Amino acid sequence: MSNATTSRTSIAHLAAKKRAGEKWPMLTCYEQITAGIFDEAGIPVLLVGDSAGNNFLGEENTIPVTVDEMIPLARAVVRGSSKALVVADFPFGSYESGPEIALQTGIRFFKESKVQAVKLEGGKKVVPQILALIAAGIPVMGHLGLTPQSVHALGGFKVQGRGDDAERIKADARSLQEAGCFALVLELVPEELATAISQELTIPVIGIGAGAGCDAQVLVWTDLMGMTSERPRLAKAYRDIRSQMIDATREWASDVVTGQFPSEEQTFH
Ligand code: KIV
Repeated sequence: MSNATTSRTSIAHLAAKKRAGEKWPMLTCYEQITAGIFDEAGIPVLLVGDSAGNNFLGEENTIPVTVDEMIPLARAVVRGSSKALVVADFPFGSYESGPEIALQTGIRFFKESKVQAVKLEGGKKVVPQILALIAAGIPVMGHLGLTPQSVHALGGFKVQGRGDDAERIKADARSLQEAGCFALVLELVPEELATAISQELTIPVIGIGAGAGCDAQVLVWTDLMGMTSERPRLAKAYRDIRSQMIDATREWASDVVTGQFPSEEQTFH
């Protein structure tokens, strides 16, 4: 009998990496083809981030994204991969009001997309939601620092945790670990704070714009590949796929116009 779940990275594997001091990468992913590519490249964790809002669904930010929009994306990433742990982001409005709605959201993601874990934003105030999810057998990844769903409350995409605010983030990080989160994303915080939290916590800390002292790093895949014309300073483009796609598209369009495509090779008799 085949059991696909056993061949995927598990939360126990990630805990072992933390104990061994082994760093690892996580990438966002929103559909099947890139899921297969990142899986083949050996990325152990794929995050179906609500950054799908501004990187896939054409929204200005993550706030309008819904569970109904996220589930098909998460299902495609699960279907397109066989080795990575797939984590689905809870979109804004799907967990804040309490443990009951958080549990319903988690159950929907588990049953309808078959992800193996979920992520939600916030510190102490979402601990009841995290406890309910974990009690139901749903592993939870936390997210602190710049939490994009609160961008309006935070006054923009600004570095968090400077000065006295560092203690609040540290306290939240401890609460999330205590509640049972298996990992924690720290976004846009000073390196010194992220390093201190990574050293203190026994769960893996995944940084994005949080310096090199974290246990793992996450990037939005379209930033990594240079798909977008603009990207945040925290990201590095390792390729210029946007230019390559524009060139390829123009080349093909020109071949169509000049009658060079299709050639004999693509023609049936
Ligand atoms: O939605 C997302 O892509 C994220 C990562 C940037 C951590 O939350």
